[in-house]
Amino acid sequence: MNVKDNQLGKKSKKMYNRAVKVLTGGVSRNTIFRKPHPFYVSSANGSYITDIDGCKRLDFANNMASLIHGHSHPKIVEAVTKQLQKGSAFTMGSEIEVRYAELLNKRTKGFEKIRFMNSGTEAVMTMIKAARVYTGKHKIAKAEGTYHGTYDYAEISQTSDPTNWGSIDHPNAVPVVEETPEGVLNDMVIFPYNDIERTLEILDQNANKVACVLIDLVPHRVGLIPGNKDYIEAIYKWTRKNNTILAFDEVVTYRVNYSGATSTQG
Ligand SMILES: Cc1ncc(COP(=O)(O)O)c(C=O)c1O
Repeated sequence: MNVKDNQLGKKSKKMYNRAVKVLTGGVSRNTIFRKPHPFYVSSANGSYITDIDGCKRLDFANNMASLIHGHSHPKIVEAVTKQLQKGSAFTMGSEIEVRYAELLNKRTKGFEKIRFMNSGTEAVMTMIKAARVYTGKHKIAKAEGTYHGTYDYAEISQTSDPTNWGSIDHPNAVPVVEETPEGVLNDMVIFPYNDIERTLEILDQNANKVACVLIDLVPHRVGLIPGNKDYIEAIYKWTRKNNTILAFDEVVTYRVNYSGATSTQG
């Protein structure tokens, strides 16, 4: 710590008081440290982050692990600066997106084509809609407890607890947000993670209605327990038999190795 204790957080507290007048909660994201108030960044470099009071901290979060190269890596700053000089958003295609898609397709054996999205929530939402159109079915199946972003359907049963999760044979579809429409809950099929027998039984009961089975291979809100190979294989076979899309959410797990978690499944 390079700031006197009595100065620690003083400017951040002032900024917070200013921020709550214009931003709900004084910040623009949910998952940030906010005790006794959020701290505000001045700059970040490599694995260090410095707040506006001048306090430099070792950053173990690295933007929820999305910054695997650390903050403001010189090569990334150089590449982005170069591109900004050529323009940043177009209503035309660009070679850079083609090159990036070529790179990702080479990295992962199972990839054929890419569609870039702005966020994980949007990717899952769009996949759900595409799966419905493709299969002609509308229900979505997901594992109890898993996080797939904040689209109405994808967020169901993310925060179930013993008071509302129901029976393990038929986990309840539990809303995260009050006033989630009944229709959304009725269109969700919730199964217990890594439990082949129960999962297949629940899927069988909804076979003619399930458009997609959404899976995270190492679900961070289910204890980071990897999906058992036999389990994933069984779901894969079930989806092939039942005209259902099997969708792997790799928003986080694409970082487990160079080719993502699907590459560990063979
Ligand atoms: C597994 C998983 N899916 C989807 C999302 C949603 O991504 P985003 O926050 O970019 O909307 C997240 C975000 O952490 C995630 O961990």
